[in-house]
Amino acid sequence: MLAHRSILVYIYMKPLSTRTSGFTDSIIRRMTRISNQYGAINLSQGFPDFDPPKEITNRLAEIAPHGPHQYAITWGAQNFREALAKKQRHFTGLDIDANKNIVVTCGSTEAMMATMMTIVNPGDKVAIFSPFYENYTADTILTGAEPIYIPLVPPTFEFDANLLEDAFRKGAKAMVLCNPSNPCGKVFTREELQTIADIIIKYDGYVITDEVYEHIVYAPHQHVYISTLPGMWERTVSCSSLSKTYSITGWRLGYVIAPENIIDRVKKVHDFLTVGAAAPLMEAATIGLSFQDSYYHELQAHYTHMKQLFCDGLRQFGLDFTDPQGAYYVLLDVTKYGVKNDLHFCEWLAEHVGVGAVPGSCFFREDVHHLIRFHFAKRDDTLKAALDRLSELEQKAKTYKG
Ligand SMILES: Cc1ncc(COP(=O)(O)O)c(C=O)c1O
Repeated sequence: MLAHRSILVYIYMKPLSTRTSGFTDSIIRRMTRISNQYGAINLSQGFPDFDPPKEITNRLAEIAPHGPHQYAITWGAQNFREALAKKQRHFTGLDIDANKNIVVTCGSTEAMMATMMTIVNPGDKVAIFSPFYENYTADTILTGAEPIYIPLVPPTFEFDANLLEDAFRKGAKAMVLCNPSNPCGKVFTREELQTIADIIIKYDGYVITDEVYEHIVYAPHQHVYISTLPGMWERTVSCSSLSKTYSITGWRLGYVIAPENIIDRVKKVHDFLTVGAAAPLMEAATIGLSFQDSYYHELQAHYTHMKQLFCDGLRQFGLDFTDPQGAYYVLLDVTKYGVKNDLHFCEWLAEHVGVGAVPGSCFFREDVHHLIRFHFAKRDDTLKAALDRLSELEQKAKTYKG
């Protein structure tokens, strides 16, 4: 009786927000749940299965009895911001001030949302390269703005500068730049960044960067911060995080770096969104921000090793995939298996081959259903076990009904 009454109430209640009515759950995070359901080796959602640096976890254990356990300053603990400013000054050469240019957030995820709300009004347009990381469309729509997509064309993922300029001619106020890029592994060259910068300056726009993979780049490619190009510091809001650099995706520590006038506003948006990042985790992670250059060299060497191990394996099976310049993903071409619905194929893969992947269609605006994404931020034994299972893909795919 009570249940019937509740259903009737729901029918007559006002509908929920139209802004969010088109949202599905995140396909990336859904694929983790599906991988778990089938006991698949999860190469879908990008997080490592190896430990963070001991110095960071030891520090966490050390501070557990006495804290800090209460709110930090809303825009981030002073010592964390000072260590971060020093590190980013070192890598960018920019004069970043811990008090004027930084807001610490709950991951780059919150950094981007707070930035989008700071820069963009409802009805504004935001340029986004496709393929893109899922959250950018959601961030844009939550802000009430409208995305305009500019293709990064496979296999080299180059863009047509005319199409980007066209987006700004049509009134785009800002663009999102994921560099190095998830999912396609593109690392933008200095020349490409200069082309983007020229357009941004010409049309008086903003760049919102997502640079969570800034330290995961494969030689001879190099990460260039667009904020360092002439005239771009004023127009760039740089979002990044500690998730990937220190293998602590669950700690939810990110940040925004920008000129003071923008940061002043981000501070307020961030304060109302989340109040602040976790105080004990900031305290423990501060030690990581003070690591010497050797840490970042070792990180690059470790990722280069994982990339080689995984890509060599895929090559050996005759599989066709993108070889990334940065980040830790490959896009595998599954055309030959007659895939019509890549989500269905990924579910089949998790159940019958035992490896979790993300359907490529969730990254593309264009009608792309022949790519699936694997990540390789895993221990050698995990990657070898996944490759072992994938060695049977060709055979098992004969039974796949697309
Ligand atoms: C491009 C990109 N941006 C942001 C994130 C999430 O970053 P964070 O953990 O700092 O919120 C991810 C996670 O995979 C990512 O790939």
